[in-house]
Amino acid sequence: EEIHEVNGMVNVAILGFGTVGSGVAEVLTTNGGLIDQRVENLVRLKYILDVRDFPDSPYRDCFVKDFGVIESDPEVDIVVETIGGATVALDFTTRALKAGKSVVSSNKELVATHGYELLQLAREHGVSYLFEASVGGGIPILRPLTSCLAANELSQVTGILNGTTNYILTRMIKAGLTFEQALKEAQENGYAERDPSADVDGHDACRKICILAALAFGQHVYPDQVPTQGIRGVTLADVAYADSCGYKIKLLGRAIREREGKLCAFVAPHLVPASNPLSGVEDVFNAISVTGNAIGDVMFYGRGAGKLPTASAVVADVIDIAKDLKTARCAVWGPGSRDLVVSSDILSSRWYVRGTASMDKVRAAFGEISPLARGGAPAGETAFLTAPMTEPQVRARLEGMELHSLIRVLE
Ligand code: NDP
Ligand code: HSE
Repeated sequence: EEIHEVNGMVNVAILGFGTVGSGVAEVLTTNGGLIDQRVENLVRLKYILDVRDFPDSPYRDCFVKDFGVIESDPEVDIVVETIGGATVALDFTTRALKAGKSVVSSNKELVATHGYELLQLAREHGVSYLFEASVGGGIPILRPLTSCLAANELSQVTGILNGTTNYILTRMIKAGLTFEQALKEAQENGYAERDPSADVDGHDACRKICILAALAFGQHVYPDQVPTQGIRGVTLADVAYADSCGYKIKLLGRAIREREGKLCAFVAPHLVPASNPLSGVEDVFNAISVTGNAIGDVMFYGRGAGKLPTASAVVADVIDIAKDLKTARCAVWGPGSRDLVVSSDILSSRWYVRGTASMDKVRAAFGEISPLARGGAPAGETAFLTAPMTEPQVRARLEGMELHSLIRVLE
């Protein structure tokens, strides 16, 4: 690589030395030479803030316990927030931006709940607030969405947005692990949230689809506006029935532009046909499919969680800022509104149904259906795919039947 002249020093502080924060320190160190060349400045890790002590860490001289040290040090240019949550992380981010420091974050909870005001604050203070790592781990998605696809009117964003749940589903199916065993592995690999119910119950994917929707459609979308279902209800029986007809079960976050500027956004397990590349996304990998009126469909794929893949995205934001500290870089979206998101009840699709009912009763209620079979099914179990209809329509037809699973089919 061409050697450039180094102009000055860019000082970085990392808040939270956990999975991601320690990965950021490692990437900044391991790739320090090439980062300095690309930035044409010396990028130096000056501080690490954590509540714990790390006496054996190679970075032990960087550790501080008081955020005030970082906040008041005029040499600190970029603060990397990898603590997580929306309490102390909100306080530190706000104070860093007000102190004229750019902030890079991997914290989707904070961006999904306070992104609009933090972006405004960053603009007011002429600094950057970047969060590429908050969606899709190491996958470049936020910058491509706003830059490379800027010529398009976007109509839809659909993604496998949570590495932990995709890993759990894959390990249960491919290695025969129980849910608990697969979750434990995901936690050991550093994929899961501190409270893994955020992964399992879909809240993490919800936060990510909120961020994607804000960038794609221009208005803040709050997590409490997005109906969210996780993977707890998905059983190996459902996986077997889906497999029997060429589908895979995936937890999807979806945001679809509707008429009059409205948006349909939700998180739910889906049956994904083998013909859709999302069906082949396994383990910790994520994929995000975006539809635009010029490009058609485009898909982004890669590791959705983990120390170094996530650090790759965080450090890319650091590099972007460090290249030109004087130019602020911030995404732009408008404030949210309570009537922005409409119910997914309007969306028609086929449905996978598993329950206890006779085929005669099912046919009387649904007319044409595609019956499904699996080995070892208990007596009386019925599973089938419906014709396209809305959720209220399918639920009305199911009245009086014992329902075990109802999962939307991705068209
Ligand atoms: P970790 O829990 O591993 O790291 C957080 C670190 O912050 C811990 O060392 C924690 O210490 C420390 N911490 C907690 N409170 C404070 C405080 N008040 N001051 C200073 N340090 C504090 O989390 P992750 O690294 O996994 O995740 C960090 C963020 O990145 C989260 O928002 C997460 O959602 C996001 N993210 C995570 C990914 C992953 O693959 N893990 C991928 C993409 C995004 P202690 O443990 O003692 O509490
Ligand atoms: N817990 C998250 C996941 C981390 O599993 O996808 C990456 O955002």
